[in-house]
Amino acid sequence: MGVEIKVDNLSKSFGKQLIWGDVSLTIPAGEVSVMLGPSGTGKSVFLKALIGLLKPDTGSILIEGTDIASCSEKDLYAIRKLFGVLFQDGAMFGSMNLFDNVAFPLREHTKKTESQIRDVVMEKMDLVGLIGAEDKLPGEISGGMRKRAGLARALVLDPEILLIDEPDSGLDPVRTSFINQLFIDLNAQIDATFLIVTHDINTARTVPDNIGLLYHKHLAMFGPREMLLSSEEPVVRQFLNAQTVGPIGMSEEKDADELEAEKDLDMPPLPPIPLQLEPSNGIPRRSQREPGGWCRDNGVTPPPGSFDHKMSMTTGG
Ligand SMILES: Nc1ncnc2c1ncn2[C@@H]1O[C@H](COP(=O)(O)OP(=O)(O)OP(=O)(O)O)[C@@H](O)[C@H]1O
Ligand SMILES: [Mg+2]
Repeated sequence: MGVEIKVDNLSKSFGKQLIWGDVSLTIPAGEVSVMLGPSGTGKSVFLKALIGLLKPDTGSILIEGTDIASCSEKDLYAIRKLFGVLFQDGAMFGSMNLFDNVAFPLREHTKKTESQIRDVVMEKMDLVGLIGAEDKLPGEISGGMRKRAGLARALVLDPEILLIDEPDSGLDPVRTSFINQLFIDLNAQIDATFLIVTHDINTARTVPDNIGLLYHKHLAMFGPREMLLSSEEPVVRQFLNAQTVGPIGMSEEKDADELEAEKDLDMPPLPPIPLQLEPSNGIPRRSQREPGGWCRDNGVTPPPGSFDHKMSMTTGG
């Protein structure tokens, strides 16, 4: 069922600049979680800390009993094999065709023969809909195809944990919907814990089981999707509903004058909570939750119209 990531009291600075501090959360095994936050709040830094590419200043990151933040290089090397990572910029080798890019981790980390490598690469290329594009160079394909090729590469070692940094940046809404559907289908199909960083509010509202929000150098909230989508906490509410009224301004935080100017403005009512995106491959979601279950169990009245099939955004599948 994938692997749990338990983060406790994590902080990270570069020189005198604190990026975030006191970050504690448990990313549940086998579920899809999304991390949100204004640009520059350290989402990519957080992902890099999770795979041990950046050392945090304080705190621990426990994965299967190993603390990534303090373990030896040897243990880190072993634990990294659990991860598949899609970096924000795709990080493809420009001079290698897609086949060789996707095959790269297999050639580096396994003793598979070329014929076994071919089988795995073609299986993952098929999974992301790139059969026929194996011979193309990264520079010859569209941004959406590059993201999918990066995803195929992240999948070749059958990861227990998939970290995906802004899969939808630079994609049109249709391709974003397709890639979201692909995540949900993959999550139903493979045993992996997903953590997706995104700026896309529709993705954040419909794809994950859990949502987190990094804001102003700390983790403002992390929890089940319905908890954040029904939250009255101003920062969470403003961000998840893409509103201008609220504490977040153009340069991250509004100043006292800006807040004074809008103090009589009411925040618009919370929009309905949409249904979660369903797998299109007929396999049930691993962490299937009853729509509205969290709200009911916690005595929260969801906004009117929530969990209505007609109101929910869906993607073709
Ligand atoms: N290796 C580094 N050395 C010094 N500062 C860094 C380093 N990596 C990131 N930073 C700084 O950390 C801060 C957070 O960067 P990060 O890339 O994590 O933001 P982000 O939330 O992913 O933003 P975006 O949404 O734009 O991708 C930025 O101020 C950045 O300049
Ligand atoms: Mg980033």
